Amino acid sequence: MARIIDGRRIAADIRKEVKEATGELKRTQGVTPGLAFILVGENPASQVYVGMKGKACAEVGFHSVTEVMPDSTSEETLLKKIAGFNADPAIHGILVQLPLPGHIDERKVLEAIDPAKDVDGFHPYNVGLLVIGNKTLRPCTPAGIQELLLRSGIDPAGKHVVVAGRSNIVGKPIANILLQKAAGANSVVTIVHTGAGDLGRYTRMADILIAAVGKPEIIKGDMIKSGAVVIDVGTNRIEDPAAKGGTRLVGDVEFESASKVASAITPVPGGVGPMTIAMLLKNTLEAATAQAPRF
Ligand code: GUN
Repeated sequence: MARIIDGRRIAADIRKEVKEATGELKRTQGVTPGLAFILVGENPASQVYVGMKGKACAEVGFHSVTEVMPDSTSEETLLKKIAGFNADPAIHGILVQLPLPGHIDERKVLEAIDPAKDVDGFHPYNVGLLVIGNKTLRPCTPAGIQELLLRSGIDPAGKHVVVAGRSNIVGKPIANILLQKAAGANSVVTIVHTGAGDLGRYTRMADILIAAVGKPEIIKGDMIKSGAVVIDVGTNRIEDPAAKGGTRLVGDVEFESASKVASAITPVPGGVGPMTIAMLLKNTLEAATAQAPRF
């Protein structure tokens, strides 16, 4: 049976570290990290996420503001709101919750955020810095995956990492992070996606398999090499009449069969999920530290 990688515990450790460092930043520099959330529309999942993120900010001693804007908000109004936060010295991080309503151009919005305040790491400037291996604000979920591995004593150096999924939020950035010639990375990376036809042909070659396809339990135990490490990024809600409320969360990996062949595996929920918020706090602290005036 695979060892369970406990994302809740590791995320709690990081949150505690951020809280301590925040106290230090306040004492030594008089700076309180500030994070602005912008939520456009009424996507229920987004409302829950933004609520959780705001609560996490309060717990570590950050200042945070949440701007809720109606579904009918124009692109121009949203861009003006971002410009206001870009110019606000009390705000060090800006997060526009995705997805945005269809009439708003996501690319324009992400490019409007000051790269120094881009705590999601989605601005093309920061994406470029990540690709060329410079220090930058990195997307939270992929950065959290690297932390999960390292804090579980799993060094990805020299390992064959297979990433299933090529999204801009997870697949592409985690591939770039682990590809870097740097401590905690230096992996051989393969990205596989829907264009491959036979997913298992590639996933079976993984020493470390990162599943980020967004399809419930698509990866079964027989698609995993014996002893591999499995990181499941999937958060899929499926119908289950036996569950409370009639639905439950499952990953992209079929946990039951996968945990019999893997050496270590992240559960859903309680694996990668909690790391995203922990790394958002870490990024915001980093952004605030970088923006703090020097004497
Ligand atoms: N929607 C789903 N994941 C994310 C994320 O990491 N950041 C933002 N801003 N929106 C998201």
